Amino acid sequence: MDATTLTKQLPFTLTGTDFPALGEKYRGKVRDTYRQGDRLVLITTDRLSAFDHILTTLPFKGDLLNQMAHFWFQKTAQVVKNHVLDMPDPCVTVARRADPFAIEFVVRAHLTGSLWRDYEAGKDPYALGLPKGMKKDQAFDRAILTPSTKAQLGAHDEPISAAQVVQRGLASARDWQRASEAALALFAAGQAQAKSRGLILVDTKYEFGLIKDELILIDEMHTPDSSRFWVAEGWESRFREGKPQVMLDKENLRQWLITERGFSGQGTPPAIPDEVRVSLAQTYVTAYERITGLTFSAEIGDVRARIEANLRRAKLI
Ligand SMILES: Nc1ncnc2c1ncn2[C@@H]1O[C@H](COP(=O)(O)OP(=O)(O)O)[C@@H](O)[C@H]1O
Ligand SMILES: [Mg+2]
Repeated sequence: MDATTLTKQLPFTLTGTDFPALGEKYRGKVRDTYRQGDRLVLITTDRLSAFDHILTTLPFKGDLLNQMAHFWFQKTAQVVKNHVLDMPDPCVTVARRADPFAIEFVVRAHLTGSLWRDYEAGKDPYALGLPKGMKKDQAFDRAILTPSTKAQLGAHDEPISAAQVVQRGLASARDWQRASEAALALFAAGQAQAKSRGLILVDTKYEFGLIKDELILIDEMHTPDSSRFWVAEGWESRFREGKPQVMLDKENLRQWLITERGFSGQGTPPAIPDEVRVSLAQTYVTAYERITGLTFSAEIGDVRARIEANLRRAKLI
């Protein structure tokens, strides 16, 4: 999909939804989640967040994100059970409601992002005990888990060590153990799939919950919002030469905010110009196409009306 098409969709982006017939609504940063008993309807909007602020919307981001998550949920259903029941619209997932752990299970294969910034500053909030002298973006021998607490809306997630997760009662020792194993198994599956598509799954975040004592993968999966993806070709020479990686994820936006606007989460977030919105949307399209091997297509027009029609067709409203 080209920049012209994405630009034409700018006036139609989905900022939010209001479908009271779907149940009780929770508005997250990106998704509007409706609950009715054991069933959730998750609508992925076009909202874009960074540093825990909602900044703007991007054309077709909801379609792209939800369909990418769906792709991965299907690919890994044999590895770990997930919450998905149905996808009645490109933006909508019907799911089983789980009792979520208030933990983000972050798995990393490279020393980059916030972990690199901590490491450089001599901090070790996850009690990892990494060797001295590692370089930015360096690959670990094996993937590591760096959990954080899942903060309420408006607050920032905080790093937490594995021992503290259990001590603070965020998960039992058994649940921590099996969720950690599940996270690492999903990550290995994601790495293999990414590699086959010429990409590197650098790091990602999972959320898990329980349904009748069964561990279930919930929320989203391996999307550019929850993960870093690098282009595999040439990554090692870029690393050796200390050059930035070719990134297919939200890190592009974070870099733009920091370098162009001096914004890294504190104070009032800046306005995002339309050219930047279109170019970010293009990154999501590229990620979608590279990951799934499919060509992205969507009709220009009112996303809300389309969702409403599809919800009716699925007899959800
Ligand atoms: N199957 C599920 N059961 C219970 N909660 C879920 C499930 N799937 C996702 N969630 C929750 O729904 C919300 C999804 O919306 P999102 O925009 O990601 O919110 P947030 O700003 O909290 O990240 C998240 O809080 C996530 O934890
Ligand atoms: Mg979320």
